[in-house]
Amino acid sequence: MPSHIARAYADRLKSGLLTADPAQQSAIAALTRLEKDLGKRGFFGGLPEVRGLYLWGPPGRGKSILMDLFFANAPEPRKTRAHFHAFMARVHDLIRQWRTGDQKARQAVFGTHRGDDPIDPVAALIASEARLLCFDELQVTDIADAMILGRLFDALFERKVVVCITSNRAPDQLYKDGINRPLFVPFIERVRERCQVVALSGARDWRLDRIRASRVWYDPGRQPGGGAGARGEGFEQLWIDLKGDMPECPAHLAVLGRDVVIPRTAGGLARATFAELCEQPLGPQDYLAIAGRFHTLFLDGVPLLTPDNRQAARRFVTLIDALYEAKTRLVAMAAGAPEGLYPTGDGAFEFERTVSRLNEMSSQSWLERAEHTD
Ligand SMILES: Nc1ncnc2c1ncn2[C@@H]1O[C@H](COP(=O)(O)OP(=O)(O)OP(=O)(O)O)[C@@H](O)[C@H]1O
Ligand SMILES: [Mg+2]
Repeated sequence: MPSHIARAYADRLKSGLLTADPAQQSAIAALTRLEKDLGKRGFFGGLPEVRGLYLWGPPGRGKSILMDLFFANAPEPRKTRAHFHAFMARVHDLIRQWRTGDQKARQAVFGTHRGDDPIDPVAALIASEARLLCFDELQVTDIADAMILGRLFDALFERKVVVCITSNRAPDQLYKDGINRPLFVPFIERVRERCQVVALSGARDWRLDRIRASRVWYDPGRQPGGGAGARGEGFEQLWIDLKGDMPECPAHLAVLGRDVVIPRTAGGLARATFAELCEQPLGPQDYLAIAGRFHTLFLDGVPLLTPDNRQAARRFVTLIDALYEAKTRLVAMAAGAPEGLYPTGDGAFEFERTVSRLNEMSSQSWLERAEHTD
């Protein structure tokens, strides 16, 4: 009998939602193995130790959609899926709660209050919530994360938690050149011991193919024969296509001690309105954080700007600079062509560079070069 994941994948090929990609077969085989192992019982009916999976490769190869397909179909009721950043943000918050909580507060959250070391109670709490943890887009750039990951995962594995991970990097390339990297190396060893490592690096970047087949700048002048409805549909359709089965949720970015919330995200995709990003008091650090975190930004409602909007225009310039540097793709829904957005007003001269960048960022060659990894 084929596995749930193999069947779900075959169904999508049949219905045309996905196209056959031989490079994805080894990932499907590994996910099938994982699904089978999760269904096994250990001695005396207890849980057996199950090797997890670490799926890595360049962008757009299908890691996230395959993991999501696996997650949705995995016959394990106690399962969670999270973007790795969101998971780590929660871990840090739990550590803080343990450190600052008195006996009563600790007891309420963790069911215990003994000990100085927060890792064990935090791992116990996470393990009590789920046996299967799926992490999308694991990347380690933060020293605070790097220093706790080894011990945290040890404690999770001890409790027979099974992980399924996607990443742009092979395990031994994680936290490359990071501060105190030798202290991080045990994490890499543990992951290699406890997970099957599979590379998914087919020739086709499916995301790029989809973006190329579509357009990335939607405005009234660029859609021959299309009214506002048709323009909105193209933008909306590309969002739906790229998102696939990925769940949509808010993302929290910690920037200089502040919590910047992007309400609509799915994996490395983010969606926001011009008003949310450029008419709020956000600055370069916020835009750099957004650009660093997402591979594609859908920006809705870019208006025609007048001299009165010079603040918003300046923020838009900074946002585009950050996206450009980080090679984050932009899909925009605008009231006009880039040239017509801010023709006069304070900073209109500087805006010309942004116009030029926007046009370049719509070109096939730029979209191809925009291989955004961590
Ligand atoms: N076999 C396929 N046929 C058609 N489209 C596909 C196929 N595999 C993936 N895609 C599409 O390609 C896009 C990118 O896939 P996905 O997000 O899973 O890539 P990824 O490997 O996780 O990339 P990243 O490393 O950037 O996170 C999605 O829109 C997905 O639907
Ligand atoms: Mg992904």
